[in-house]
Amino acid sequence: MASEHTPLLTTVRLARPQRRYPHGIVRRFCTIALSSTLVWLFLAFAVSFITYPHDRPRHHHENDENWRWPGWKRRNVTDDQLRKILLETPSSKKAEDWSRYYASGPHLAGKNYSQAVWTKERWEEFGIKSEIVSYDSYLNYPVDHRLALLHKSKKDESTSWKVAFEASLTEDVLEEDPTTGLDDRIPTFHGYSASGNVTAPVVYVNYGTYQDYEDLIKANVSLDGKIAIARYGGIFRGLKVKRAQELGMVGVILYTDPGDDGDITDEKGVATYPNGPARNPSSVQRGSVQYLSVAPGDPTTPGYPSKPGVPRQPVDKATPSIPSIPISYLDALPILKALNGHGPKAKDLNKWWTRNTGLGYKGVDYYIGPTPDDVVVNLYNEQEYVITPLWNVIGVINGTIPDEVIVVGNHRDAWIAGGAGDPNSGSAVLNEVIRSFGEAVRVGWKPLRTIVFASWDGEEYGLVGSTEWVEEYLPWLRHANVAYLNLDTGASGSEFEASASPLLHQVIYDATAAVKSPNQTVKGQSVLDTWNRKIRTMGSGSDFTAFQDFAGVPSMSVEFSGSSRTPVYHYHSNYDSFHWMQKYGDPGFVYHRTIAQIFGLMTAQLADKPLIAFQATDYAKGLREYVGKVEEKFDQTLVIREMDMATMDEDAIVEFRGSQRKSSRQGDDDSPSHEALSFRKELEKLHKALRKLHESALELDERAAELTDRAKQHIPWWKWPAWLRLALEIRKVNTKYKFLERDFLYHEGLDGRPWFKHVVFAPGLWTGYAGAVFPGLMESIEAEDWTNGKRWVDIIEGCILTAARNAAI
Ligand SMILES: *[C@@H]1O[C@H](CO)[C@@H](O)[C@H](O)[C@H]1NC(C)=O
Ligand SMILES: *[C@@H]1O[C@H](CO)[C@@H](O)[C@H](O)[C@H]1NC(C)=O
Ligand SMILES: *[C@@H]1O[C@H](CO)[C@@H](O)[C@H](O)[C@H]1NC(C)=O
Ligand SMILES: *[C@@H]1O[C@H](CO)[C@@H](O)[C@H](O)[C@H]1NC(C)=O
Ligand SMILES: *[C@@H]1O[C@H](CO)[C@@H](O)[C@H](O)[C@H]1NC(C)=O
Ligand SMILES: *[C@@H]1O[C@H](CO)[C@@H](O)[C@H](O)[C@H]1NC(C)=O
Repeated sequence: MASEHTPLLTTVRLARPQRRYPHGIVRRFCTIALSSTLVWLFLAFAVSFITYPHDRPRHHHENDENWRWPGWKRRNVTDDQLRKILLETPSSKKAEDWSRYYASGPHLAGKNYSQAVWTKERWEEFGIKSEIVSYDSYLNYPVDHRLALLHKSKKDESTSWKVAFEASLTEDVLEEDPTTGLDDRIPTFHGYSASGNVTAPVVYVNYGTYQDYEDLIKANVSLDGKIAIARYGGIFRGLKVKRAQELGMVGVILYTDPGDDGDITDEKGVATYPNGPARNPSSVQRGSVQYLSVAPGDPTTPGYPSKPGVPRQPVDKATPSIPSIPISYLDALPILKALNGHGPKAKDLNKWWTRNTGLGYKGVDYYIGPTPDDVVVNLYNEQEYVITPLWNVIGVINGTIPDEVIVVGNHRDAWIAGGAGDPNSGSAVLNEVIRSFGEAVRVGWKPLRTIVFASWDGEEYGLVGSTEWVEEYLPWLRHANVAYLNLDTGASGSEFEASASPLLHQVIYDATAAVKSPNQTVKGQSVLDTWNRKIRTMGSGSDFTAFQDFAGVPSMSVEFSGSSRTPVYHYHSNYDSFHWMQKYGDPGFVYHRTIAQIFGLMTAQLADKPLIAFQATDYAKGLREYVGKVEEKFDQTLVIREMDMATMDEDAIVEFRGSQRKSSRQGDDDSPSHEALSFRKELEKLHKALRKLHESALELDERAAELTDRAKQHIPWWKWPAWLRLALEIRKVNTKYKFLERDFLYHEGLDGRPWFKHVVFAPGLWTGYAGAVFPGLMESIEAEDWTNGKRWVDIIEGCILTAARNAAI
């Protein structure tokens, strides 16, 4: 389809012939071109057009007196006016209209071209030139499914099976909520799930985390050949299936347990949706079972864009080969009850196992199983796999500086017809942000840096639209992309949440300080005032992954979400609908408006200040904190080891030591603890390198602050060499900021998952969503592979020292 590009993204096209990482020629070309005198001079001119002051993050909210640059024509939108536009344009009413549109019909990845066209048309109405960019992606669509509990009839010798329970596998149609009754609503299924038809006894595996399975193995629960029933939560669902498959299980059932809904439950007397804020018992969480922590994107084209005709790789390393199926609590009850009395009780296995179980609730006693051989489950799952186009919408506001680019994105595709929360609260918000910038452009504003807006498709299956786009434009992004700002579920509650690279922390604090909270009880307070100010590290689970973890672009993601005290969000269910949003999620769409204001300000802060609004010192501080986490992990591992040893007898300890020696591949004389301690000492090298980085970062931030001040001073026109010098110095500092995060890419990638290039940030290997810091070190500690641990210390030390050198003034 639309593989022809309009001339809109000329710079992007430059990079197109280059598919594979790393790049080479294009990057070199750009570098040479940009260091040429002509370009430097041009940039000096560009900077001279700036008509408003820059406030460095640590100079909080100075009053903006517009500075005058004599002799040059001033742009007529001041910094104050731009802020006013970005704060006043977003409207709750409009956000509600966009939400109503997006959530009115199915828009599964690659299934709704008209929604892409509609989005492009709206953006063009707002005054932002846009185009549709398409990729041919490997996706599955549901064909058929069945889940039944079978009992062998005792009387009958000829093995006749009786159906004890047939799962409905559908969500109830609610009169109050029209989306739930659409004829073309999407069935319950898993993205990238394997087709299959299996019949076997069932085992309750709790959340299906790596540790949960370890506990089961320790308790001698037989897993081989069984079907797992796991509750949602804790980790990315695909990894629950991955581990089950590795342990020889033949199928996986995933269900939503209201025990994880905090205080808002039926059990605690709260009415269920649509009559109240508790979870509707028939709600089903669809979702992808791709192995997100191994590589996102189209699994047949790892590392390169899925354009028509490209070679396709096998998918077995990235997606499961056993079938899986998502079900509701209502459908899970008979299966959980069939486990009663079989095998150990969950609460006897491990404290963790009973954390959220409402014991005795609705007759479920949470036994592990397996069910006896005459009580089995039949799980049948049929998926159709196709290679089909999906459509990103890309809009651009050209800036004055061609090679400094801010990308702002949200995905559009949803698992269901609704998706009023995930992702279309974000889509509604993004429309309001773009409409606001359109207003600014209309009255004569032009940003310093180019802003690219993206409405991604295929996020739900595995961040496909964004990952393929980043893979296609990698050389250009590596060269020009300053930051990526992500919205996914923009508003599904009232608690502000953020995750970000430390370089961007101050931008988030500044924007939230400048926007009022819509909470009436705390009238007048800013969002920052009402927020605990905790910013999470970057993991995965949304479209920032390819930017942050693959391209080394500092990224962030923000949202208003629910808490354990607010209405239960029906994630990936038919009840994530416009009606739910209107009634429970964000009545009045006030949090939609608020996050649009925050998002607009952050985008402007990054795109339009002469000095890029990064704080390098925050990065150095962040890294020090993460090394602390590594040390903590190491110490915990040793404590656990000691505890294990205390309960072992002599022979076991000798045997254990032997196995350790083998696994650490060291000489026989080295005891494991010696190796471990020497690794621990190696970590000192990181602290030493970080002190260097901290020094350089401090200097860089100081210089940026100083240049900001100088840029505000009056320089008479005849002192043009002084302007030129200033412009060049600003350019130099910005270039250092732009490439700081890139220094933490390691071209060979992480162990066993080479797509992930960042040595600091990656999704946890066995969590998927949550960010692991220094994954190379963390995984080495987990495996107690001290040789590999030391290898990673050297790699990371190298990155830190390079960054310290490059950041130095
Ligand atoms: C942006 O600039 C490029 C060339 O620099 C041009 O081809 C393109 O049309 C411009 N886009 C917009 C939206 O102005
Ligand atoms: C595409 O989305 C729109 C708006 O949500 C909806 O009205 C339409 O029915 C969808 N089209 C298809 C083919 O599902
Ligand atoms: C699944 O397999 C069983 C036998 O194990 C068979 O009876 C049933 O018809 C199969 N279901 C489908 C839909 O093929
Ligand atoms: C598991 O089985 C092994 C040997 O078969 C036995 O030594 C051990 O005590 C069993 N563990 C539990 C928790 O039953
Ligand atoms: C900027 O100039 C345009 C015309 O060039 C005008 O329409 C607009 O109102 C001006 N904006 C402001 C904020 O003064
Ligand atoms: C509004 O703020 C109050 C006081 O902090 C808090 O108790 C309440 O939960 C907040 N309301 C919402 C909808 O977040």
